[in-house]
Amino acid sequence: MIKLSQIEKVYTTKTIETLALNNINLDIMKGEFVSIMGPSGCGKSTLLNIMGLLDDPSTGQVEINGESFARFSDKQLAKFRNNTIGFIFQSYHLINDLSVIDNVELPLLYRNVSSSERRKLASEALEKVGLANRMKHFPSQLSGGQKQRVAIARAIVGRPQIILADEPTGNLDSVMGNEVMDILLKLNEQEDTTIVMVTHDESMAQKTHRLIRLFDGSQVN
Ligand SMILES: Nc1ncnc2c1ncn2[C@@H]1O[C@H](COP(=O)(O)OP(=O)(O)OP(=O)(O)O)[C@@H](O)[C@H]1O
Ligand SMILES: [Mg+2]
Repeated sequence: MIKLSQIEKVYTTKTIETLALNNINLDIMKGEFVSIMGPSGCGKSTLLNIMGLLDDPSTGQVEINGESFARFSDKQLAKFRNNTIGFIFQSYHLINDLSVIDNVELPLLYRNVSSSERRKLASEALEKVGLANRMKHFPSQLSGGQKQRVAIARAIVGRPQIILADEPTGNLDSVMGNEVMDILLKLNEQEDTTIVMVTHDESMAQKTHRLIRLFDGSQVN
């Protein structure tokens, strides 16, 4: 489902060149739940962003569902991303002046979905994460765990085949972190969603099918 071949990423600033990823080769199957671990600065977010077509590699190839993207325009890329991939970030990235349900509807605005259908799909997504009773709240009125569950609802509302999560439990205490992890596990098991999750938490990583360790931009297992 996701294939990375000989990926390198070099960041160049005025003063320094950083090799953030060094010859990464990865094959992730449909329905796999993969975790990525490694010390701060080893390239985890860079790798996830490249997988999610948010960033280009310096060299190498990304394929998703057999598709490669060199000839895609930005617009085509955005459309493909919107239809195929849901993103979850450590710091939630919710829009504070939109209500919970409006936040969850956002990815559907870029598709041809009627407003009543958007409401329906967003309510269903919020039910899946146990937040049907918080639809009219605003993000500032929610706990961290609830915010992350809203972010998950937003990520799944368009039924993406792939979810990419960058430290989704990083800002949460262990109880809330486990709730979020349980939702991801359930999505993976019941809906066959392919998930790639960056985490600093061994116990979370142990619950996934496969663990990829990075060190200084290279795979170490
Ligand atoms: N926009 C950028 N410009 C220059 N260097 C960058 C940029 N983004 C990341 N880097 C460098 O690339 C390396 C990998 O960064 P990345 O954010 O992928 O690390 P990470 O493993 O996600 O770390 P953390 O666990 O702290 O989130 C780091 O050395 C970082 O300084
Ligand atoms: Mg990171």
